[in-house]
Amino acid sequence: MRLTDCYNFHDFRRMAKRRLPGPIFDYIDGAADDEVTYRRNTAAFENCDLVPDVLRGVAEVDMSVTVMGQKLAMPVYCSPTALQRLFHHQGERAVAAAAAKHGTMFGVSSLGTISLEEARQISDGPQIYQFYFHKDRGLNHEMMARAKNAGVQAMMLTVDSITGGNRERDKRTGFAIPFKLNLAGMTQFAIKPSWAIDWLTHERFRLPQLENHVKMDGGSLSISRYFTEMLDPSMSWDDVAEMVRAWGGQFCLKGIMSVEDAKRAVEIGCTGIVLSNHGGRQLDGSRSAFDQLAEIVDAVGDRIDVMMDGGVQRGTHVLKALSLGAKAVGLGRYYLFPLAAAGQPGVERALQTIRTEIERDMKLMGCTSVSQLTRRNLRFRS
Ligand code: LAC
Repeated sequence: MRLTDCYNFHDFRRMAKRRLPGPIFDYIDGAADDEVTYRRNTAAFENCDLVPDVLRGVAEVDMSVTVMGQKLAMPVYCSPTALQRLFHHQGERAVAAAAAKHGTMFGVSSLGTISLEEARQISDGPQIYQFYFHKDRGLNHEMMARAKNAGVQAMMLTVDSITGGNRERDKRTGFAIPFKLNLAGMTQFAIKPSWAIDWLTHERFRLPQLENHVKMDGGSLSISRYFTEMLDPSMSWDDVAEMVRAWGGQFCLKGIMSVEDAKRAVEIGCTGIVLSNHGGRQLDGSRSAFDQLAEIVDAVGDRIDVMMDGGVQRGTHVLKALSLGAKAVGLGRYYLFPLAAAGQPGVERALQTIRTEIERDMKLMGCTSVSQLTRRNLRFRS
């Protein structure tokens, strides 16, 4: 299978599955408990239909949006995700470069495998720093100061990961960082040679955002243990209000789902919220962001930028979210599988694919700008 054979999410996923050791594929692909929310995230888009207008003169389409003060050439951005160099040696470098090429925003994770400063050198587009609230307050302060010095445009605090989700696929494979070479791991090296060669011939895996603070030598840390042992479960609205003040710039909360919380985010001075259930990886059975979007936009959409992520696989999914009032839509697995499959050319192809779909779909909807996408063009099935 070649990159040029990939036309959609499922193709990229299949190509990634062929290349990646099983435990790594399952880490990306998997979700919590019975993975109901994971499946629902994509299925939710099928509860409503687009109602196109025609004969509107759609020769030129402008799909740019402005979100948290950042102008994006297209209404999708690369959400911050962890451990990218484990999937392909180019990791975050590929994602930053591809996002820059497409004029959109990308995020570097606290669990990123290149430093946020290096990412800043690669892309001159808007950069988010995804932040976890650690028990170690020194680490929290240092991370914010580093992000400020590096010129990161927006902070994104993840608020749905106060403890680790129950990811049973990871439990079965023993997935942990650094990738442990137990017998099963060795077998994977033998049966997935292209991943193994990539892994062995490139620089050592690091977590530059955390390495001054976390001792990882000797042991390894599962994602669930990281959340449970290192993040602060006592984190409260007061703590976050203080962070928002200290940052003094664009600040959004990722993982807001209730109207009440959305209102509190406005009250403490956040400039954005991302409706998200963490790709179904945390609380299984929680509502999909798309299902919850209208309610939140109605409550706070005039006071804060509402974004969403989860399950987005098509340009039409993006159009539906924008029609309900999302300012922009985040992608996760949508660019991670292409990264794993083919590095930077993979991510570029994925972003080009969704961009082409959005442009085509806007034309078919009779829209020449994102502001023309409204609820008038959407019907929910009863
Ligand atoms: C995950 C975290 C690290 O979902 O964002 O695995």
